[in-house]
Order: sequence, then C-alpha cells, then structure tokens
Amino acid sequence: MITENIAACVDALSSGELVSFPTETVYGLGARADSPEAIARIFQAKDRPKDHPLIVHGPSAEKVFECAIDIPMYARVLSEFWPGPMSLILKRDVSSGPVCSQATGGQDSVALRVPGHDIALELLSRCDFLVAGPSANKFAHVSPTSAQHVIDEFGDELLVLEGGESYVGVESTIISCLGDTPKILRKGSITSVQISELLNIDESSLYEEDICDIKVSGNMKVHYAPRIPVFVFDHLEELEMYLSENEESNLAYLGFNDIVDKNISFKQIIQSNEELAHKLYGFFREAEDKECSQILVIAPSNIGLGAAINDRLSKASSEWRLKDV
Ligand code: TXA
Ligand code: MG
Repeated sequence: MITENIAACVDALSSGELVSFPTETVYGLGARADSPEAIARIFQAKDRPKDHPLIVHGPSAEKVFECAIDIPMYARVLSEFWPGPMSLILKRDVSSGPVCSQATGGQDSVALRVPGHDIALELLSRCDFLVAGPSANKFAHVSPTSAQHVIDEFGDELLVLEGGESYVGVESTIISCLGDTPKILRKGSITSVQISELLNIDESSLYEEDICDIKVSGNMKVHYAPRIPVFVFDHLEELEMYLSENEESNLAYLGFNDIVDKNISFKQIIQSNEELAHKLYGFFREAEDKECSQILVIAPSNIGLGAAINDRLSKASSEWRLKDV
C-alpha cells in the first residue's frame, strides 16, 4: 500500500516489518538493522543470497558512524557529500548492536548512507534504530524509482512511503574506506572527479585495486537487468545500421537523438545525462509492460554521471551484448 503517513512507517519498522522508503537514487526496501528477524524478511522478499550485504541508512553522519570503528580521516571528509547519493564501507563495530551481522551478510564491514531526500531523512530521524535497505526490487531485476514500481515488484501488501520519483535514478556511489586510501566499488552520481577534488588525491588512485573478490552489485555479471534484451550502441550511425538490418518490430528506444523508424513503437528522447539517469529504470520497466521485443539505447560519453550510466547499461545488456560500451 502506498502511504504518506510517516508515523505509520516508523511503527511498522519498529515492530520488525518491511517498509519501502524513497531516496534520491532509488527506492529502498527497509528493515531495522538491529533485528536478525526483520533482516531475514528482506532476503526472503528479494530472493537475495544471504551473503550479499545490505546498505545501512541513517539520518546523519554522526548517527551512522556510531556503528563503525577505525574510521579514517578521509571518510570523515567524504561525509561532506551526505546527505547524498554516496555509501561508505567502513569497519563494523561488532561489539555493539545497531547493525546485526545478518545485515552485513556476515562481513565485519558495513556500508553506510545518509540519503539526500527530505522524506527519507524525516523517516530515519524519527526511528531510534538504523534502517538496512537494499534497492526495493527482486534480486537482479531493475531498481525502482517510484512508489508504484515497488508495488509492481512486491504487490500491494507492502507498505511503501510515497516520496515522488527518485530524482537521481541510479544507485549510490559506493566507496570502500577499509584501506589507506578510498576505492570506488560502484559508480554513481557522486563522481570520481568530485571525490578526488574533495580529498585532493589523484583520480586514478580511486580505481587501482583489484576488486574482484568484493561482493558488490557492480561485480556481478547480470544485474539491474530488465526481462527483455537491451542493446547498447556507441553512436547514432551504429544504431541506424542495426535498424536497417533488423526485422524485429515493437522496439523501445532511449537516447539523445530523435529517430523515426517503423519498428520503434516506444521512444523517449532525453537532453542530458541527468535526465537519462533519472529516466533509465522507469523506461526499462515501461518497455517491459509494453512487451517490447528489445530495448535500444545510445550510450552517453563515459565521463561524470555518464560513467555510472554506462556501468548500468553494460550490466543490463550483458546477456545480449552486441559490443562493449
Ligand atoms: O542508492 C543506493 O545505494 C540504494 C538506496 C536504497 O540506498 N541501495 C542499494 O542497495 O543500491 P543494494 O543492496 O541494491 O546495493 C548495495 C550494494 C550491494 O551490491 C552490496 O553488495 C554492496 O552494496 N555492499 C553493501 N555492504 C557492503 C560491504 N560491507 N562490503 C562490500 N559491499 C557492500
Ligand atoms: Mg540493488
């Protein structure tokens, strides 16, 4: 059920129930982070593997840092991006109880986030516990960017706090703060340029480490994927060539250039990377609802937010890849 009643959501969370809440990136599927029973409900609802850790949300840096230890100075500086679309991975304080080990998939680190969304912050500040919340979608499906998307995914039984469309539209930038220097594990709208400028460090150092054995969505082969094939093109000419050789009808197209083709039955033309990120997941879902045969997207240039979008496009299309973006 979609609701605007924040008090009812706080009550439901307090008693261990799941509540979906809005954020500026995507909607989360929340449960109190200190309760193994409540956390178990998240994994069950999502069909998510139990060793896949969740992001823990709170109303302020001060509050979320309470469940971490050995916080490096650079992580405290990075918290300037909060409230905002960034998650920091820190060493978990295993001796205290605000985050149970089930919430972190048994790891002794914890991903923390203070979302930049007024309604989310109001909800979180009224809770006397932290809220663990993955994106509110079934495991490996597209993240939801509206309350209705969450209902479409889980049914009307679930309480969903209305917060409008998520304005960023792609998941938070995840930064590991477990080493001497920060490492970006998942690209998002807080970019490597912003991070390196704030910390006064070399941008390339943010990516140096081999992150293959770290459990993060970005490392899974297929993720954020719609149920129909996604094809990504580097530029307009490449897409036009594809259309001229392709017989499929009922195609969906998302991109900067307007294209007229008899086989394209659903299209959205966007003007900026911000608009592309904002609309991407909603477009995927609408194309699914319309039972389009394929989704065709022209990739943005790989800078700033474009890099985060290309990361998601690459994952969404990995089963059906024509070529790398
Ligand atoms: O924007 C977002 O981050 C959204 C909103 C709801 O906050 N949340 C989100 O959660 O995208 P989720 O669970 O779909 O993705 C979180 C990713 C997972 O891939 C998980 O593996 C990684 O964060 N993660 C969480 N805790 C971690 C940890 N301790 N170490 C490494 N990766 C971690
Ligand atoms: Mg997710």
